[in-house]
Amino acid sequence: MTLKEFWWKGAVIYQLIPRSYADGNGDGIGDFQGLASRLNYLRWLGIEAIWLTPIYPSPLQDGGYDITDFKNIHPELGDLAAFYRLLTAAHNHGIKVILDLVLNHTSSLHPWFQRARWAPKGSTERDVYVWSDDPQRYAEAPVLFRNFESSNWEWDDVAGQYYLHRFLRHQPDLNYENPWVQEQMLGVVDFWLDKGVDGFRLDAVPFLFEAEGSRCEGLPETHDFLKKVRQRVDKHGRDILLLAEAIQPVEEAAPYLADDELHGAFNFVLTAHLFAAVASGKVNQLRECLEKTQHVASVGSWAMPLRNHDELWLGDGHLVPDDVIQSIRAGLHQGHGHWLNWGINRRLAPLLNGDPRANRVLHALLYSLPGMPCLYYGDELGMGDWPGLRDRDPNRTPMAWTSARNGGFSTAPDPLLVLPAVTAPGYDYRVLNVEVQKQLPGSLLNWHRRMLTCRRLLPALRQGEFEILESTHPSVIVYIRYIESMIVLVAANLSAAGASLSLDLTRWKGERTREVLWGCEYPLADDNWFVYLPSYGFSWWLIGEVEETIQNAPGKN
Ligand code: GLC
Ligand code: CA
Repeated sequence: MTLKEFWWKGAVIYQLIPRSYADGNGDGIGDFQGLASRLNYLRWLGIEAIWLTPIYPSPLQDGGYDITDFKNIHPELGDLAAFYRLLTAAHNHGIKVILDLVLNHTSSLHPWFQRARWAPKGSTERDVYVWSDDPQRYAEAPVLFRNFESSNWEWDDVAGQYYLHRFLRHQPDLNYENPWVQEQMLGVVDFWLDKGVDGFRLDAVPFLFEAEGSRCEGLPETHDFLKKVRQRVDKHGRDILLLAEAIQPVEEAAPYLADDELHGAFNFVLTAHLFAAVASGKVNQLRECLEKTQHVASVGSWAMPLRNHDELWLGDGHLVPDDVIQSIRAGLHQGHGHWLNWGINRRLAPLLNGDPRANRVLHALLYSLPGMPCLYYGDELGMGDWPGLRDRDPNRTPMAWTSARNGGFSTAPDPLLVLPAVTAPGYDYRVLNVEVQKQLPGSLLNWHRRMLTCRRLLPALRQGEFEILESTHPSVIVYIRYIESMIVLVAANLSAAGASLSLDLTRWKGERTREVLWGCEYPLADDNWFVYLPSYGFSWWLIGEVEETIQNAPGKN
């Protein structure tokens, strides 16, 4: 066990897009003022941290991941003073704030890039980005946004050279070989830590350095720079989270998690396996993935998203095997025709055919597996999407707060909205919104709140060890989370058919057992327990004696 408990260990992270969350000044665009007014809701829901997608000045050609000034705020969101007010208010609500930090590239409108293209070839100013006379350089690096780009190089007439862009052509890659670039970006880290933020989601970390003959991902020099970021963060003497976005197999993502590097990394392999399990009704590969995940990194350092603001990234066979991709393609019908780049461009609810039971079982896993569960705004409601909008905008539509116009997101006339509020059949904001679901005891929203409450009361789920148990059923995954004073047994059926199975409880023979979520007593543990899990059913059981507080978890109805 670790000596010190870090705030982020087992924390539930809520990802939101400030522009799409709540509009405070009525101009149709979400902002800090609006978000601050919704902190009560987030505290009520029970999340522990918010991750804000980029908040910096940007022409928004890639949702703000194309930055023109790393030390400022996009004027539509507010200004530095408004950010400070939001941060203070979040802290007063007991909520941590994680910023998205884009290290790999800038917007092509960033003054550094404009200066670089006009500066003489070979000069320090030019050298802030990666240039080449030959667009065949680094030919083994895959094109990531393949629906939008056909090469990682773009010709620049002014410079008379090609520049490297691993993402859109509007996002030139910074040249990390240049010490000036490194110093600038470390300065950005200092800037936001001085403001008081609690962590960074480090965007696209694998791509900082390039080398001929490789995919240009996770090179040793990239790790060296990330270690410098860590040293800089540690100098601040606060408990900060550095969380890597590396869409890579677990063996390749794990090296970022060294003691002197980053604290956490998203586990996108797990995400794919969770969807594959629901799509196929089989858990064997999910189980293997969980076992591997635990061996390559210390328990608790993985962040676990289901969906986010991007497409559901499945890759080219490098991230997960082709048969996993095939079973997702075959099983998740609503994904048909919505393939974008290397993944499926839909939100969680439509991908799951609007079935709240599938939403529940997947989140019941996230909330009980070791690591940081990530909840994408709106998924607590089963919010829908708007297929047909450009790029990844289908997944980025306004949060549905009430049945009022535009889902209570904004009072602006419809054409001014950042993106249209969802009125698709089955997902209409007039029915599917926070206000309505708060009042329905059986709603998905109240279910998430109750699960998060129970999780808070079960330290074994937050910090405990993890062990996968044998399951006699191909659709059911069984594991325990435990600390010295508490054991929680979890079983989940990932199939649409019911499952009956027997659980071997020999180890705990004679112990008291209770189903946690609804507080119901079970028979004393015996050699074998026969259990039935309905379609997408799951249970959390407490084994042995525990304190009374858990019995009285609020929100039971
Ligand atoms: C990350 C972000 C994605 C962005 C890309 C380029 O993958 O999640 O939204 O487009 O980086 O910054
Ligand atoms: Ca606004």
